[in-house]
Amino acid sequence: FTPRINCICCIGAGYVGGPTCAVIALKCPEIQVLIVDKNQDRINAWNGETLPIYEPGLDEIVKHCRGRNLFFSTDIDAGIRDAQLIFISVNTPTKTYGIGKGRATDLQFVEAAARHIGQIATGKKIIVEKSTVPVKAAESIAKILYSNIDDNVSFEVLSNPEFLAEGTAINDLLQPDRVLIGGSQTDPGIEAINQLAWVYEHWVPPSKVLRTNVWSSELSKLASNAFLAQKVSSINAVSAICEATGADISDVAHSIGLDKRIGSKYLQASIGFGGSCFQKDVLSLTYICEALNLTEVADYWHQVVVMNNYQKKRFARKIIQCLFHTVSNKRIAIFGFTFKKDTADTRESSSIYVGKYLMDEEARLVVYDPKADKGQIISDLREVSSQDPQRVDRLVSVINDPYDAAKDAHAIVICTEWDEFKALDYEKIYNSMYKPAYIFDGRIILDHAALLRIGFHVEVVGKVM
Ligand code: NAD
Ligand code: UGA
Repeated sequence: FTPRINCICCIGAGYVGGPTCAVIALKCPEIQVLIVDKNQDRINAWNGETLPIYEPGLDEIVKHCRGRNLFFSTDIDAGIRDAQLIFISVNTPTKTYGIGKGRATDLQFVEAAARHIGQIATGKKIIVEKSTVPVKAAESIAKILYSNIDDNVSFEVLSNPEFLAEGTAINDLLQPDRVLIGGSQTDPGIEAINQLAWVYEHWVPPSKVLRTNVWSSELSKLASNAFLAQKVSSINAVSAICEATGADISDVAHSIGLDKRIGSKYLQASIGFGGSCFQKDVLSLTYICEALNLTEVADYWHQVVVMNNYQKKRFARKIIQCLFHTVSNKRIAIFGFTFKKDTADTRESSSIYVGKYLMDEEARLVVYDPKADKGQIISDLREVSSQDPQRVDRLVSVINDPYDAAKDAHAIVICTEWDEFKALDYEKIYNSMYKPAYIFDGRIILDHAALLRIGFHVEVVGKVM
């Protein structure tokens, strides 16, 4: 086949669309990359000094390519018109209304993007489903695309799910474990797969570019996230056994992980997984299973989310129990609000739920996070306080210095594994706190022996101190 792609459009300038297409622009200087979004503020930020998302390494790439072959715009029509290949990289959240509320994927943004393409496109276009979607979504996209067109337009719909993790997105994109492309097994389908593979093969070894049918590709994405989330829930389940028996989760995880069949990654016990995708994708998978009448399979995966909710609640309960069963009016410093380190993203962060349970007991929260936006922290906590939004104003403050946050606090709660928390002067912190001074390490990152020597009462997920 002859490569003919010289212009790519990406609809959705978010955590996936932005970094993914910035890396494509970097590695394929001969291709024009247009990232479009309906959100003017977001596009302004992509075109400005401070990018809308924080991701190590992203700034340099965007600043290198922007204006050369990387462009951000709200002119979605022009993007669709000019590109031979269009990524749909819009959000696919869990439905918050109607049938499947709280579990099914809300496909309204995917549908809107597909309709937009259907209205504007002319000639031959390759449409790439980059968003994470339920199995068979490509069929709906194709129907929508074809609903409104004349004879001289043709589409090939591919599935090309994204596996990057936030905080390591640029590395994940530059050196992916694999790139997955699903397409129809017809001549035009195979041709479209080859075109997209050609783009990635500018920097990804061909042996890592997998070609499957569309449904396998869509399902592989949901199943991958379900496996990863399952591993975290499994180790968190074991952490509860450790706390009840005196076994040590670090030793147990290390021993389990050395078995090559299991592997050592995703065995870090925590306050529960967060982020915009694990929960939504596991719920989506369970909903699909139910729709397919696979009740036992749905129940199996659903337990991953049940265990995660249990872990968040169990951690908060432990805090309350240790602080003499009452945290009312006690100042508690929350260290870390993002769902993991090296991101400013707080979506579905476990900190939100730990914060909620503590606010339910009238604790006063002082939050410190190196990257999370103050307004975002307040709005996340308000959202889980819908019955009494005023309580956030009454109980929560966000402070930009960890020492100030800990001053006069009864306890410090480590919610995110930011490296800087390891290097704080805990002696100084201890001296400024109420006694007994507690520290709850929800990420197992601190030097517990040193903290005990200072005089802290130390509580750690999966350990008895
Ligand atoms: P996001 O919310 O950060 O970005 C989505 C963007 O799409 C928003 O800026 C929104 O304004 C825009 N948008 C929505 N509808 C539009 C339309 N019709 N026209 C133009 N713009 C539109 O979402 P995200 O985190 O980038 O996730 C996107 C998809 O990628 C989701 O399906 C998600 O499951 C998947 N995914 C996310 C990650 C991750 O780490 N965040 C990783 C892998 C896959
Ligand atoms: C995850 C997957 O890792 C990506 O492959 C996938 O593309 C992405 O979801 C997606 O589809 O959105 P992400 O959510 O960005 O990426 O981050 P992870 O590093 O996977 O962490 C998810 C959550 O699990 C975090 O809250 C993290 O702290 C927690 N976690 C992770 C643990 O508690 N323990 C671990 O051992 C690993």
